[in-house]
Amino acid sequence: RVDEETIRALPKAEVHVHLEGGFDLIDLIDLAKTAGVPLPGPARSLFDVSTHDAVEAPQITSGGGAKNGVGVGGLSGFLKFLDWECGLVTTPEQAARTAYKFAARESASGIRYADAVINPTHWSAWAGRTPQLFEAFAAGLDEAAQDGLAEIGLCLSLLRSQSGAEAVEIVEWMSAARPARVVALSVDGDERVSGRTGAKFADAFTLARDAGFHRTVHAGESSGPEGVWDAVDLLHAERVDHGVRSIEDPALVARLVESEVSLGICPRSNVTLGIYPDWASHPIERLREAGVTVTVNTDDPAPLGTRLESEWAMCADTFGWSLADLGELAHNSVRASFANDDLKRDLH
Ligand code: ADE
Ligand code: ZN
Repeated sequence: RVDEETIRALPKAEVHVHLEGGFDLIDLIDLAKTAGVPLPGPARSLFDVSTHDAVEAPQITSGGGAKNGVGVGGLSGFLKFLDWECGLVTTPEQAARTAYKFAARESASGIRYADAVINPTHWSAWAGRTPQLFEAFAAGLDEAAQDGLAEIGLCLSLLRSQSGAEAVEIVEWMSAARPARVVALSVDGDERVSGRTGAKFADAFTLARDAGFHRTVHAGESSGPEGVWDAVDLLHAERVDHGVRSIEDPALVARLVESEVSLGICPRSNVTLGIYPDWASHPIERLREAGVTVTVNTDDPAPLGTRLESEWAMCADTFGWSLADLGELAHNSVRASFANDDLKRDLH
């Protein structure tokens, strides 16, 4: 077994992780206390909130291993939990601290660079104030970098249920304002709820490409192969977040190989949210064997209970990956990242 210490020491990047999934438990308790709202489930007993008539936090439940099923209890319920967490962040100081702690969490796994997905729709207190929210995040990440923690690039993410016009408006703002640390446009959310959304975001992603932003797209998790086709054909995706259901379409697998689109795979997230019943049935190894560039990531480390080094160790155990395979994984993680060329050279 490759031990986690060895994995932590590999120079590597994480390319599929949400800032929304990086809250420290202690910070979350503090934030909920400050906001006067109860914590979800058993954690509620950690402090007395019985006097508050507050909003209930939704419960995280597993999708229960339904076949390819990201049901209401799975991904959608999970996204509501992220809404709840992020809704507790109301001041620039809280937002900056959340970002700082995110960078610290990445560093603890030996991650030197991460592309962090941020979906402004989760952060309800900042509706109509996206620039201020991103300024606060950038301030926290600058402080983290000064303290020697991981460098973080930001992928501004659209929610699938937003309109094409809203998406274009966001990209126009990104292109004009060039917010600090924002390197890419992204889209995430539950495709079971929104339906097929590639076409509606095509204009926004074309604008983003033309303005020099990278593109990464969640697909092939709550959608089948058609979502991944749309990501590469319509949205100019350089990476696909998840993309695991590409395995169901050999022509798509060939296309990913030929066009060098990598998949930002998060095995434990897929098992917890019910896409696959267990690690052994996860298609990451079949995708890798077919020549697709895969990376292994945590998705939402805090609420899913994932750490990058344990994900990599679990892959090594389940699929028989050697230390050399993990070295290649580390190399590919840097190559697939949106880090600038200087940093990439440093990490290779
Ligand atoms: N946002 C955060 N995690 C996500 C996931 N696994 N799929 C879609 N959207 C997400
Ligand atoms: Zn994700």
